[in-house]
Amino acid sequence: MTQHIAQEPYIALKGISKAYNIGGQAVPIFSGLDLCIPHGDFVAVMGPSGSGKSTLLNMLAGIDRPDAGSLRIGASHLDQMGEAARSSWRAHHMGIVFQFYNLLPILTAAENVELPLLLKPLSRRERRIRVERVLDLVGLGGRERQYPGVMSGGQQQRVGIARAIVCDPGLLLCDEPTGDLDRKSADEILEMLCFLNRQLGKTIVMVTHDPQAALHAKRTLHLDKGDFVEERRAA
Ligand SMILES: Nc1ncnc2c1ncn2[C@@H]1O[C@H](COP(=O)(O)OP(=O)(O)OP(=O)(O)O)[C@@H](O)[C@H]1O
Ligand SMILES: [Mg+2]
Repeated sequence: MTQHIAQEPYIALKGISKAYNIGGQAVPIFSGLDLCIPHGDFVAVMGPSGSGKSTLLNMLAGIDRPDAGSLRIGASHLDQMGEAARSSWRAHHMGIVFQFYNLLPILTAAENVELPLLLKPLSRRERRIRVERVLDLVGLGGRERQYPGVMSGGQQQRVGIARAIVCDPGLLLCDEPTGDLDRKSADEILEMLCFLNRQLGKTIVMVTHDPQAALHAKRTLHLDKGDFVEERRAA
């Protein structure tokens, strides 16, 4: 007998409200926001400055918690978890790519990528193998010992991506990953994100101001006045 089980979306936000206290007044950023993201999606989030894009990413990352509503990723209900549980969850399930790379300048490329692995029960040799594998994957094989200071922006962002995927997370959150790069380097980074999405099945949520960057995603959500308007493209 064939059973048809309605597949749950990977990420489900329901009735999310979030306000910040600005100048003594609670200013709502979201009031009753709903969002579903299936496994393997690549979503670009666009919207004016201050519309709440980083707030949304911070909630998905478990860095920030909604004031109300439910936020589930996989089997984890982030809205019901305390800070320590969310930190540990984050270390196992997601990678974050930042606009300005957030690499430690006193560490080599390999040491930067190795950092998240130090939380795992792995031997030095196992860590080295994993680091080499992901640096190869992002096209930086042979540059393990270079320091971020001698690398171009595009190369530093590749290190940032290698660090984000070294623990093999299902979800990648990217906040303006190409915001600091020229067009050519930006396009190379975007191709890399497409590869991680299509070939390795990573679900990606990418905040961007750049309409050309958003075209690499499967769909774009325009965030304005606390709600989304979706633009869908053929895969
Ligand atoms: N920690 C905070 N405390 C108070 N207000 C905050 C905090 N974080 C964000 N805000 C406010 O919430 C609103 C949304 O901010 P957010 O950073 O999410 O916007 P954004 O869409 O990412 O903007 P940008 O495109 O400029 O990065 C803004 O009005 C901002 O001032
Ligand atoms: Mg922002």
